[in-house]
Amino acid sequence: MWFRVARFHGSYLVGVVTTMLLVLYLNTTLRTLQQHKKLRVTDKHVQIALREEPVTEDQSELAKYIRESEAENSERLWRIQEVCHHNNLGLYKHSPEKSKYIHPPTPHYNVFYIDREHKLTWCPLYKAASSTWLYNMCLLGGYTDEYLQESKRQLSDMARELFPELERTEAEEAFHNTLKLLVVRHPFERLLSAYRDKLENINIGAEHGTGHFYQKYGSRIVQKYRSGGNRTQTQSLLNPEQYLWDPRQPQPKGIEPTFKEFVRYLLNVDIVDHSDDHWIPYYLYCTPCLLKYDIIAKVETMLRDQVYVIKVAGLQGLIRPRWRHKTYHEKGEDIANRYFSQLSREEVQKLYELYKLDFELFDYKHEKYLDYAGT
Ligand SMILES: *[C@@H]1O[C@H](CO)[C@@H](O)[C@H](O)[C@H]1NC(C)=O
Repeated sequence: MWFRVARFHGSYLVGVVTTMLLVLYLNTTLRTLQQHKKLRVTDKHVQIALREEPVTEDQSELAKYIRESEAENSERLWRIQEVCHHNNLGLYKHSPEKSKYIHPPTPHYNVFYIDREHKLTWCPLYKAASSTWLYNMCLLGGYTDEYLQESKRQLSDMARELFPELERTEAEEAFHNTLKLLVVRHPFERLLSAYRDKLENINIGAEHGTGHFYQKYGSRIVQKYRSGGNRTQTQSLLNPEQYLWDPRQPQPKGIEPTFKEFVRYLLNVDIVDHSDDHWIPYYLYCTPCLLKYDIIAKVETMLRDQVYVIKVAGLQGLIRPRWRHKTYHEKGEDIANRYFSQLSREEVQKLYELYKLDFELFDYKHEKYLDYAGT
């Protein structure tokens, strides 16, 4: 009897071990399969398009984020005052001499999203975490994650419906009673991102207005800055090291402007009067020299800064730190390197001069982009 029990136990053990091995094997195979799938979908060194990074739950880690963000935010705010003062602008005007910058007399009240209930004012800058914050505004306005993820409507329309533009008096009053948030990003990264999103490819993104952008800007840029106009194919002007197209999407039609042509356009247009919202300088759009923001967050430190905003604005439980990112990308700098290699050093330098005040206000550097430049 004991013998049979032992045998039973023996085969039981063998069974357990075999099952464990099988599970392990299947698991590994499955993971390898998934990795293969991932690789196939995203190409060699290119990352996934849409990600929502989980933020740590560790309280001491979160407290560290908040301390760091707080300290850095004070520096960012202090710097803005210095730069506005130095350039004799807005609230910091200190001499009757004219500033070298043209500057609006009042904030553009109609651009803000103002949530008076949760006491938050946000100035949207396109391609500076704008979809993340539009999404957050929609959550604050009462939409659920489930609804927003299903919905086909534009986030900007939904957010505007929830938080309509305010007139001057109402807006000024709200500015006093709300936490004012500005999210910025390296000015060159934002320009490149806007170019890739709106101008580079009219075969994709029709729902985001690439057709409209082609009519309004792209076709004219090509006509003016390309010899042969739209009869010369974009592809014939570039080598594959100078751009990054999503292999999963249709290729551009070939009549879209190159990044270089877009930059030549920017260098020739009157940026103050004829800027599109997608590439207008930050200082003209959100007027940090006229409005004392409480928090300057940056895309470069997005998750950490969001933890801080949520804490300071008391929005715990209403929004979560997240980072929605839609454009096709490989590791950050490589993309800029590709596109900026289309430009000459002189063009990069001129582009910097054009956005110099933004670089100074928000403490960004342009030197490495000069090194990306071609001849
Ligand atoms: C190409 O350029 C010509 C003018 O040079 C214009 O009439 C035509 O509409 C353009 N084609 C497209 C597809 O934009």
